[in-house]
Amino acid sequence: MTAEQKLKNLSNEHIIIASTVEDRYARGWHVIGSHRDFSTEPKMIECFGTRIAVWRGAEDKAVHAINAYCPHMGADLSKGCVSGNDIVCPFHAWSWNGDGECTDIPYASKIPDKAKIRGWEVLEKNGLVFLWHDHERNPSIAEQEPRRNEDWYSEEWTDWTMTTIRIDSNCRELVDNMADMGHFGPVHYSKVAKFSNLQDGHTFTQFMEGGHEILTEGDTPMTSVAVYEGPAYMTTTMTGSMNGEETKVHLLVSHTPVTLNAFDIRFGVMMRKDPSLSEQENQQRVEENTRLNIESFIQDVEIWNNKVRVDNPVLCDGDGPINMVRKWYSQFYMDAADVPARLQARKEHVTLG
Ligand code: FES
Ligand SMILES: [Fe+2]
Repeated sequence: MTAEQKLKNLSNEHIIIASTVEDRYARGWHVIGSHRDFSTEPKMIECFGTRIAVWRGAEDKAVHAINAYCPHMGADLSKGCVSGNDIVCPFHAWSWNGDGECTDIPYASKIPDKAKIRGWEVLEKNGLVFLWHDHERNPSIAEQEPRRNEDWYSEEWTDWTMTTIRIDSNCRELVDNMADMGHFGPVHYSKVAKFSNLQDGHTFTQFMEGGHEILTEGDTPMTSVAVYEGPAYMTTTMTGSMNGEETKVHLLVSHTPVTLNAFDIRFGVMMRKDPSLSEQENQQRVEENTRLNIESFIQDVEIWNNKVRVDNPVLCDGDGPINMVRKWYSQFYMDAADVPARLQARKEHVTLG
């Protein structure tokens, strides 16, 4: 203990502990964009400390993702073009398939054995494109596949309106939100009447009831159910009313770590269409709702960009189960065989109501 720490201990002040962030990313499905974002025009996604080239095959129409730096001489494959289902490097035109295998070198008689790049498992579901990340490089876990959201497949609902926001912080800060009842009043102007959480396997849910100064009128109650399926894919269903109309909205608050100290939030909004409105008016309505939701959400960003990490928060009896959500979240940073059963056991916590 340093002299300064000793002095602080004597005066009974709390010393913030913040361990160095482990050099590892969470195991699970991560949203990298909407289905509309990927075409035969390759795209570069920065995540998991690297660059990933993502494209849609011209023939199979499937989304493919491989590490972007070409092992030949390092060009960025996402600046290349798609031919058939493969991507062609812009530098010397070597072709690569979605598994990361070199399939063609226009000027060689033999493809070198080492011509192989990391390929990423891709899932397209609910109008979103996901990548599976596992530090141990195991294939995806079947039970952890995101549930089908029937509303996205229904004509009665709009598609996602999406926005990406980069945050300069480790992504655990975002996950704390699930249990942090105390910040909804001061940061989001919500009046929380009921608040509880449920941990179950790879999912963590927040149930909340209350009013919201931006998103609902006056004292109209709003119910929100937010579910993390794995470490990074969170959807919220909100029911309330706006201008006298019943509203039901799905929000997407998914994130991908860019590095250990930055992450991208992919924020999306999907609404049930109002049948009395035209397609265009419905689109305007969802865009307006997206703007309001972002306005509310952005209030967290200002806090995250200026706070420090605290591993040992001083909590009070009115706080939500911050340590519970953090322990649940820690399972995604362990080898799959080492995850203790208690981190996945079904467990409820009622903070209010
Ligand atoms: S750097 Fe990609 S083919 Fe040469
Ligand atoms: Fe928040």
